[in-house]
Amino acid sequence: MNGKETVLSGIRATGNLHLGNYFGALSKFVRMQRDYDCLYFVADLHALTTNPDPDQLHRNVRSIVAEYLAAGLDPEESTLFVQSDVPEISEMYLLLNMHVGIGELMRTASFKDKARKQLGIKVDETDEDNIERQIIGSASNKRVNAGLLTYPTLMAVDILIQKAHKVPVGKDQEQHLELTRRFARRFNSFYGVELFPEPANFDFGGKPVKVPGLDGSGKMGKSEGNCIYLIDDEKTLRKKVMRAVTDEGPKTPNQPVSPTVENLFTLLELTSTPEVVKHFRDAYADCSIRYGDLKKQLADDILAITLPIRERILDLQGDDATIGRVLRRGAEIARERASRTLAEVREVMGIRRFY
Ligand code: TYM
Repeated sequence: MNGKETVLSGIRATGNLHLGNYFGALSKFVRMQRDYDCLYFVADLHALTTNPDPDQLHRNVRSIVAEYLAAGLDPEESTLFVQSDVPEISEMYLLLNMHVGIGELMRTASFKDKARKQLGIKVDETDEDNIERQIIGSASNKRVNAGLLTYPTLMAVDILIQKAHKVPVGKDQEQHLELTRRFARRFNSFYGVELFPEPANFDFGGKPVKVPGLDGSGKMGKSEGNCIYLIDDEKTLRKKVMRAVTDEGPKTPNQPVSPTVENLFTLLELTSTPEVVKHFRDAYADCSIRYGDLKKQLADDILAITLPIRERILDLQGDDATIGRVLRRGAEIARERASRTLAEVREVMGIRRFY
């Protein structure tokens, strides 16, 4: 293209975006726009792995596009598209699956996690390695569909079909990215070609983040029910933050911070200035901290980021004309590029026409 590296990332169409999506992915998408050749999409096919209501799925695609635009993605700078608008992805998904082992898919943490959730099996009740036996032995094993198993293949295709170099994602997606690199290497070496670059995660100098929940759990996530959404109004958001789980407070100077309170500090680090963070860290260390003050500050700082985005989401959400225009243009560009890669893949694999 223009000498810039290609960036690609996406978010599943499973509901409104939360602070985990924002700090793990979307805020990086926005910052990368100028310096890279960026493609960002809504992963509606990946959302199908959990069998959503069809009308809800359609609404979710619209709301994520509105949230992308509201957060600052500029359709003049970045290509914005919906995954299912690029049918080349589905064809290459079939082709790449011929080089993916079911064993390696079954060992993927996200598969084991989701499969257990579908079957209602708690992780700590089981021994880690028996997922195959658990699935086959379960009366409701049809709930664990083949799409869930091959989720990493589809994600790899999203990335490889655009020959992306950088894939900004949160920490939870790193295993999928590792598989993508493995599939790329395998394909290149099996056919003796240099078709796919090996993509890497990207974070501006730092480590990929894991945004914690407010309930003392490790991760903010839609299925965990512990999210602060970009679309939350001020009252809802303040209430959520003020109810965040803490502990009894430090009793002795410089005592270690408990995991639940560390979660609040992590959120503060993402949203506040270093001075504010230092103020509360010092207050913790000398036992003068009041968690109510910390939470109020945290709510103020989150709101300073989310409220302007919320306003724009509300404006855009009903604007199907703008959303349609952006997606039509994005689909054209994404398809054009994808069809070139798919033609190469077909040729390399021997899928060649006689007419
Ligand atoms: P999804 O929809 O689960 O999440 C979208 C993005 O948000 C990040 N994220 C988080 N980051 C930090 N802390 C959290 N608590 C948190 N929760 C979510 C995720 O890491 C992700 O970056 N498989 C992808 C979607 C996808 C994709 C792709 C991404 C499909 N194809 C190709 C990149 C490239 C996913 O499930 O995202």
